[in-house]
Amino acid sequence: MNSVNRVSFTYLKFLCLLLCGLLSFSAIADSINSSQEITTLYRSARKVISQNQALINEKGSGKKLTADYVIAEAKKNFKQASGQELDVSNDPLAAKQAMLDAVAQVMNDAQDLINDSEVGFKGFLPAIFARQVGTAFGKNTGGRVKIKLTAPKKIVRNRANRPDKWEAKVINDMFLQASYEKGKPFYEEVAVKGKPAFRYILPEYYGESCLSCHGTPKGELDITGGKKEGGKLGDLGGAISLIIYK
Ligand code: HEC
Repeated sequence: MNSVNRVSFTYLKFLCLLLCGLLSFSAIADSINSSQEITTLYRSARKVISQNQALINEKGSGKKLTADYVIAEAKKNFKQASGQELDVSNDPLAAKQAMLDAVAQVMNDAQDLINDSEVGFKGFLPAIFARQVGTAFGKNTGGRVKIKLTAPKKIVRNRANRPDKWEAKVINDMFLQASYEKGKPFYEEVAVKGKPAFRYILPEYYGESCLSCHGTPKGELDITGGKKEGGKLGDLGGAISLIIYK
């Protein structure tokens, strides 16, 4: 190889590496952006259930919480949280529409329960809504994108929400460490059951409203009949975990 060729070969190699680097960098940036939007929409919908918990707990909830109502309020919450209108068209994964559809399915299925005129407290809670929406969402995306609400292993209430190995490791080694920056999501490109994926996990903390069920004294029964975890204001309560398969 003469020296000119050698220089241009080295240059070409460099260019290739740079391009590959840039491409994977922008793929990760896209995944982060999608993850932020999907998790924000998920929280925005769950917030509608929290905002209406008192009404849901009344006998006969007045048929206000229809699928359309919850979706309209979720969109408002999304705008408030992200500063932007929800745009379902701009979404190669079609995940935002899949989330709205999941919310509609869960709310339609819940109508008889929510509007029961005989029962006050019905156990229809944000975390339960979130679990149901997560399941429906996974189906709506054909398993391509999955979302779940999970928690540290030692306080998880519903076995269906247990963290997997990756989630448990992030929760223990990062989120539960005092030095970890509050509210900061963690993400990683990592195989899930042998399939390449992008994983994103967002920590969540107990606010005042959580403590009637997750607070002290530890072991005392809450209104749902479950045992309180002994959590304190600001403690890590759980995390939203997302998988985007490639
Ligand atoms: C009325 C009682 C009640 C309140 C208030 C409440 N929770 Fe829960 N929470 C539950 C129950 C019951 C479950 C189990 C849900 C299920 O079966 O999936 C649960 C589940 C969870 C989970 C999923 C992991 C697990 O343990 O199964 C997280 C995370 C969570 N709650 C966090 C919170 C946070 C944060 C708040 C406040 C913003 C809150 N909860 C308010 C009762 C409550």
